[in-house]
Amino acid sequence: ADYETILVEQRGPVTLITLNRPKALNALNSQVMDELTNALAAYDADDSQGCAVLTGSEKAFAAGADIKEMCELDFADVYNRDFFAGYDRFTATRKPVIAAVAGYALGGGCELAMMCDFILAADTAKFGQPEIKLAVTPGMGGSQRLTRAVGKAKAMEMCLTGRMMDVHEAERAGLVSRILPGDELVAEAIKTAELIAGMAPIAVKANKEMVNAAFETTLQQGVMFERRLFHGIFGTQDQTEGMAAFIEKRPGNWKGK
Ligand code: HXC
Repeated sequence: ADYETILVEQRGPVTLITLNRPKALNALNSQVMDELTNALAAYDADDSQGCAVLTGSEKAFAAGADIKEMCELDFADVYNRDFFAGYDRFTATRKPVIAAVAGYALGGGCELAMMCDFILAADTAKFGQPEIKLAVTPGMGGSQRLTRAVGKAKAMEMCLTGRMMDVHEAERAGLVSRILPGDELVAEAIKTAELIAGMAPIAVKANKEMVNAAFETTLQQGVMFERRLFHGIFGTQDQTEGMAAFIEKRPGNWKGK
């Protein structure tokens, strides 16, 4: 497919998606949302692909929703178009998506990174929800996902003041899984994605699904969901193969069923 605001490449089993509006610091307009969610749906449907990496530029992962697009809109416009609801297609992706964040991840940019399954960040990464300075609020899940990621104290302070977190604070707070030197960020994210893409595909989806369930259920329901999905995995050929391969001290040969 031809995209104008993103670059999509397949590197073996890894789909690398790069936000590509450098002059606007990758501001997220409606075209980016449509192209990104279409690219992810294509990735999800492609059996040759096992993991995706979403990245931006060295200066900015994304500096937010596109203020120049939003400034024209009134309540009826955003309500009737259900502005940003299209990102539900992003989080419906069943295969993993890793965010590789360098530079600014602000507003919608921080929210987009948090829609991914985990965040690898360069030492230059900065996270923030500065919407309040524009007299608005997060609108792509930031008030919810940031609070779940870093807890109320930091999330509330960041939303009310617009203060940015540097990468060390973000890592300590649990927003970022690992900090990497900037020049190794994308290569290391692709290596991590290759590792995941080498795992049995149903087990990958099941692990993603059950970790995400932790945010939607009580502990007891979540543990039951995990256990039943775990039981179900024993109906796959790859489970038999995975355990046999371990005992025979050889790599598993996955069938994806
Ligand atoms: C549209 C943006 C943009 C944005 C930057 N640009 N952020 N355009 N929407 N979110 C554009 C600038 O207008 C400028 O274009 C060019 O990118 C370079 O930006 P500069 O500001 O010149 O760069 P710099 O001085 O290095 O400052 C970087 C920055 C700053 C600190 C990241 O750009 C900034 O504060 N951006 C806005 C961050 C923000 O408020 N994000 C939240 C958006 S609201 P020109 O044409 O002038 O060269 C949001 C809400 C989501 O995400 C949901 C609910 C509403």
